[in-house]
Amino acid sequence: MLNEPIPFDPSHDLDALAASGALGGNVALFKQPRGQDLLRRSAPLEEWCALRVRNGVWPYGRTLDGPPAPLATVEGDGLAAAQGINFASQDYLSLASHPAVIDAAMRALAECGPHSAGSAVLLGNSRHSNALERALGELLRCQQVVLFPTGWGAAFGAVTALVHGADHVLIDQLAHASLRQGAAAATRNVAAYRHLDCDHVRELLAGIRAIDGSGAILVITEGLFSMDADSPDLPLLQYLCREYGATLLVDVAHDLGAMGPGGTGAIGAQGMLGKIDIVMGAFSKTFASNGGFVACSQRSARRQLQLFAGPHMFSNALSPVQAATVLECLRIATGSEGERLRADLMRNAVELRALLLEEGMHCIGAPSPIVPLWTGSEAATRIAGMLLARAQVFVNPMEFPGVPLGAARLRLQLMARHSPAQVRQGARLLASAVRRASTAPRAVPRPAGQG
Ligand SMILES: Cc1ncc(COP(=O)(O)O)c(C=O)c1O
Repeated sequence: MLNEPIPFDPSHDLDALAASGALGGNVALFKQPRGQDLLRRSAPLEEWCALRVRNGVWPYGRTLDGPPAPLATVEGDGLAAAQGINFASQDYLSLASHPAVIDAAMRALAECGPHSAGSAVLLGNSRHSNALERALGELLRCQQVVLFPTGWGAAFGAVTALVHGADHVLIDQLAHASLRQGAAAATRNVAAYRHLDCDHVRELLAGIRAIDGSGAILVITEGLFSMDADSPDLPLLQYLCREYGATLLVDVAHDLGAMGPGGTGAIGAQGMLGKIDIVMGAFSKTFASNGGFVACSQRSARRQLQLFAGPHMFSNALSPVQAATVLECLRIATGSEGERLRADLMRNAVELRALLLEEGMHCIGAPSPIVPLWTGSEAATRIAGMLLARAQVFVNPMEFPGVPLGAARLRLQLMARHSPAQVRQGARLLASAVRRASTAPRAVPRPAGQG
């Protein structure tokens, strides 16, 4: 049962909020604090965050009480515990609460205990993780699979293990931080190409090959971009890579399981199963667990990853409970129940976008579990996020460094088990919050930051 929506408090003093300074500034101003004292030189950052907390516009680091369900209890800095519609958790097929998944996790816990007790290279594997590697290899038609304790580690580990200083990386300008940081750590020869722009990729590949005929080139993209809900032309990117002797890596963190025929994501939807050089993913969006993987067809690359990807080699492996959880999620996602859950998820995505459009809102990207509701300015995003939390709708307001400066948005993440009533009520409250935020006063005195 849904509670009646709580109307926005008309007396909420948005003038005072604007005057407070809490709508101004951004994280970029504090990135490189100056001074010798590493522990104290971030004081201006702390002051700025505290100012936002005091004024109710710090939506980060909140706590979920219970599972990441469509209706969830959330509390945080300046936000008393409240139950509301949850568009802020990542559990696209609602598998985190699925009885068969919980049962699989409990059985693995009883059988193996809670801990992997070693890196994958040093006795951290279990029969559950071995089975998971095989299942992923079959689904993706890439038999050489390496598991990682986090998706972040899989992305960073893949790039840093395979690429070295004499090589090149071409990366979509909006690719996830884990991939960008991996590229920056692997080589200085990194170029960002315009988002989804294959002509730009071709131009950059040709430029590199004109001066370097022998170095390796890794081209990096995502199956579904996590802040923009759009996808690249994978056949064309893979074709360009072949033409210029480059290698393609596709991060399928957000689409594998949640989209595509049989849950095969953008790769399956574009007819590219088994044809992408390197597939990398995270389990944390659809498979109800931390963890990630890298898959390819070459045994030699698997060996390179096992021995040179730091987060695989030098970090404890996925626990048996995590591996069994993901394996059960994979079984459900690739079966007939998975098709039904994906249909429910997509119905929610199409419905939410249509309702927001009717209300005059602008969502970017295409229907998918991610619905980015455009706000543009950081100030409007902060106000909308605050108003929504007070109306018991939980969203993730995204600003730098999650997205570029001036491209702020509310990121809504849907689940298969969001009910039509929750989607309708959520859309109404989202639209009124964004409308109110877009006309609110924005005087933004510069905070006492640096830079
Ligand atoms: C595209 C992408 N890749 C990798 C990751 C990292 O995955 P995890 O959070 O599971 O470590 C994320 C998660 O935010 C992501 O969105």
